[in-house]
Amino acid sequence: MVEKPRFLVAGNWKMNGLRDESQALARQLLDLIASDGAPGCDMLVCPPAILIGPVGATVRDTSILLGAQDCHPNGAGAHTGDISAPMIADSGCAYVIVGHSERRADHGEDDALVRAKAEAALEAGLIPIICVGETLAERDAGRAVEVVLGQLDGSLPGAASAANTVLAYEPVWAIGTGRTPTGDDIAQVHDALRGGLAGRISEPDAMRILYGGSVKPDNAAEILAIENVNGALVGGASLKADDFWGICQSCA
Ligand code: 13P
Repeated sequence: MVEKPRFLVAGNWKMNGLRDESQALARQLLDLIASDGAPGCDMLVCPPAILIGPVGATVRDTSILLGAQDCHPNGAGAHTGDISAPMIADSGCAYVIVGHSERRADHGEDDALVRAKAEAALEAGLIPIICVGETLAERDAGRAVEVVLGQLDGSLPGAASAANTVLAYEPVWAIGTGRTPTGDDIAQVHDALRGGLAGRISEPDAMRILYGGSVKPDNAAEILAIENVNGALVGGASLKADDFWGICQSCA
């Protein structure tokens, strides 16, 4: 029996914040760790790419981990405006989110591209957080599990392992809406993802599967208590230190 993986609570700051307030947010989190003690989870912040430098300077040599929100599948080249995985690693990041539904929707990213980005992340020594999740229409049609397993199949690199990759289940309709699936619905999808990992990687129970979509301090404990939920990917609530901290403290 593989030990349950350590919780990971990741803040996806999306396209929010300017430099001073972002550094202040990181400092507030460090103050909370100093005053309340280390939480029972790994804490990760993923600022916008242009703020990775300043926020990275604030959290350097602390327990707060740094990540990016996207990377290009190529290591370098003529791709104006894009950022490569080696650049992200070179900036002090340990993680990169790939395949977020906002990238899939805004930039037409498909599973093959998401897999290529995850492969680029692995090659650069970064841990990709690969996002999957169904739309409301897909859920209403009873296809949620089928959709996320298809995304898993199409997006997971062959070289993925429990140690080098994280999965995140984010139902599209729960992102930024204040609506969350029921505990049973979250459990069903996470169990299915765990089952989908079996046969693909050697220690499926050890891979962290995060839940994301309207996670707040007041629903975090219930969500994080679900068996195959190993952390949270947090949007809106990660922009307020007290709220993000409350979620981190819900990891028991
Ligand atoms: P919210 O927490 O704002 O719903 O966003 C979730 C998300 O998309 C995190 O990646």
